[in-house]
Amino acid sequence: MPVKIYLIGYMGCGKSTMGRKLAQRLNLCFIDLDKYIEERNFRTIPTIFAEEGEEGFRLCEKKALEEIADFENLVVATGGGAPCFFENMELMNRTGATIYIAPPTEILVERLLKSKNERPLIKGKSREELTRFIDENLQKRAPFYEKASLIIRDKRNLEVDDVLRLLEKQ
Ligand code: S3P
Repeated sequence: MPVKIYLIGYMGCGKSTMGRKLAQRLNLCFIDLDKYIEERNFRTIPTIFAEEGEEGFRLCEKKALEEIADFENLVVATGGGAPCFFENMELMNRTGATIYIAPPTEILVERLLKSKNERPLIKGKSREELTRFIDENLQKRAPFYEKASLIIRDKRNLEVDDVLRLLEKQ
């Protein structure tokens, strides 16, 4: 049976790291949606934001997701905002299993402080600004993320075996 798993969740939740490991273990292909968008558009994500704004980026993201939805036997790590625009979440739920990774906010803050300058939405924010931004933004995004078929909350060191065990239980 064809398989497709989408990993969703906030920036810094570990979608790409887990996606790569999960794909390897399940012998599936791995696609990082942001990398796919960059290759299809011949530009980096920060350049797309700078040239077309968030609105332009969300259109590129929607188009990329629609293309990927037709592929099979893969694990997809989506960008943090992908489930929250257009009918993207419905498309993912229709075409695969969706897993929401939701670590504690302190973990997101620690990880994002180290890599914030690669991410246009949080570039240059101080710890306090970042914490406030994540809290507010997560409140808006949670209703979308919570449509996932599997939700993994508050795990500090999520391992592939944890994910596989939870998937099997479903
Ligand atoms: C975004 C998350 C990023 C990237 C873009 C916007 C968001 O992906 O798609 O910068 O809106 O949360 P990661 O979640 O992989 O950082």
